[in-house]
Amino acid sequence: MNEQIEQYAPSKLLVTGGAGFIGANFVHYWLDTYPQDRVIVLDALTYAGNRANLAGCESNPQFQFVQGDICDTGLIEKLLQDEQIDTLVHFAAESHVDRSIHGPDAFIETNITGTHSLLKAAKKVWLDGGGMKHRFHHVSTDEVYGTLAVNDPAFAETNQYAPNSPYAASKASSDHLVRAYHHTYGLQVTTSNCSNNYGPYQFPEKLIPLVIANILDGKPLPIYGDGKQIRDWLYVDDHNRGIDLIIRKGRLGETYNIGGNNEWTNIDIVKLICQLLDERFEADATMQERFPHSPQVAGRGAESLITFVKDRLGHDRRYAIDARKISGELGYDPVESFETGIRKTLDWYLDNEAWWRAVMDGSYQEWVGTNYD
Ligand code: NAD
Ligand code: DAU
Repeated sequence: MNEQIEQYAPSKLLVTGGAGFIGANFVHYWLDTYPQDRVIVLDALTYAGNRANLAGCESNPQFQFVQGDICDTGLIEKLLQDEQIDTLVHFAAESHVDRSIHGPDAFIETNITGTHSLLKAAKKVWLDGGGMKHRFHHVSTDEVYGTLAVNDPAFAETNQYAPNSPYAASKASSDHLVRAYHHTYGLQVTTSNCSNNYGPYQFPEKLIPLVIANILDGKPLPIYGDGKQIRDWLYVDDHNRGIDLIIRKGRLGETYNIGGNNEWTNIDIVKLICQLLDERFEADATMQERFPHSPQVAGRGAESLITFVKDRLGHDRRYAIDARKISGELGYDPVESFETGIRKTLDWYLDNEAWWRAVMDGSYQEWVGTNYD
């Protein structure tokens, strides 16, 4: 089934989860890079989805936003049919590991049932409807491979699946469904399994934006367990460039790991952000006026906020990606170094204070109470 294809050219895309962190960055990237393409976003606008993430696209005639649930097969069929969609890029998911520990049901519903509903609709419209040109790209995670010890080789596509959290298990299930629709029905699919992303529009429940916002507001920086867990960080545009390459040049039915060759312990990454923000306060006197509760105003460094808290249940120790397949087959390489990527990210959060204050609202405060108290 794994035929080699020359080059696929999308023209009408349906992007699920396009109002979330990676999806919104993908939509901006795609419309900037391929202005002739049509991009329709389907998003349920859960707590993690935010129409403001797409504000820059709203006046573009090539862009359309549809509020809806990926579990609604009828709606998906209608969109694929009426809009003559040829490419579905599937980001929509419940994505936060800690929330999956407190409440797994939504993860089963969206990540498994929702993905299956998209596959069913795609099969009906694209295959049963006469075999149209099409592509279904499924965005998944390295967490499906489980956890690594410090000296283990990084995750390759051939690693056995061993998901440890309800989130990871739901993503693993969705990967299997995507694979099965290719193998059984011939749906033209590709899958990517990526490491931890960071960059603009990331919801501040995730480590990097949480730490930035908490430093600026003088709140504790919660470090789970000993803080020595390791993640492989990738700037979000580099993830999206990898997805673009896979859609255009990837082999059908294949999975590709995407990663940054950029492993950090949590405690080191938090200390780095502390140091970079301390430098900003030293260099720019207006920072103290803008962020009166920050520790720098009281003459303390941001590291003084570091607080070790109870560990995440079942916490995976280390993730690392072996990206040789995507780099060898498709010529992929991240363009952003961590040094440039993290500075861009800090700049974005400093320039978009209104954005993160607006999303850290009532329901966010409830989540903080549930997870950290
Ligand atoms: P996110 O939580 O920021 O955004 C998810 C989006 O999906 C939101 O806009 C939300 O409203 C939407 N959504 C949720 N349920 C929906 C439903 N039932 N129907 C329609 N829309 C729905 O997530 P993210 O961090 O941008 O992750 C996007 C994808 O990338 C996910 O599939 C995730 O598993 C995967 N991924 C994320 C990372 C990462 O580091 N964030 C790394 C690898 C892979
Ligand atoms: O690896 C890819 C995955 O990366 C994606 O599939 C997930 O959608 C994404 O959320 C991310 O999962 P993590 O659990 O690795 O990301 P998070 O930002 O939640 O946590 C990063 C590390 O920091 C992890 O080891 C847990 C730790 N952490 C996190 C939070 C929120 C803390 O120590 N304290 C915290 O408050």
